[in-house]
Amino acid sequence: MIYLTRRYDFSASHRLYNPDFSDEKNWAVFGKCNNPNGHGHNYELEITVKGQPDPRTGLIIDLAEFNQQVNSRIIDLLDHKDLNRDVSFMADQIPTSENIVIAIWNELVPYIPAPATLHKLRLMESRNNYAEYQGASLLR
Ligand code: NI
Repeated sequence: MIYLTRRYDFSASHRLYNPDFSDEKNWAVFGKCNNPNGHGHNYELEITVKGQPDPRTGLIIDLAEFNQQVNSRIIDLLDHKDLNRDVSFMADQIPTSENIVIAIWNELVPYIPAPATLHKLRLMESRNNYAEYQGASLLR
């Protein structure tokens, strides 16, 4: 099995808070990310697909087609957006790295061209903080 990873960048703003919590509890749980007017991050998204190279091309996937799908279905919808308000696939979710990476997986997984499959997503919110996801089937 071959694993192929491609990296994407987007910038977005968010505010982490739970409307069911008190102000005090929101500050305690989310810290600076609870600032009322939001703040931005320069996110990096690594997408890893796995498969066997096609003997005719030596490729797991058509990268141009893959790029077009990722950009139109994910990156264009997130870049320079407010993750609390602008992104339909993040509606009613607290935009933590954990929730964002799960939502991206669910959006992207139907568009990975067979026989390749989506293996892993890594979403870096900062150089010190990233979330990884490999799909619900690996949840325990
Ligand atoms: Ni933040």
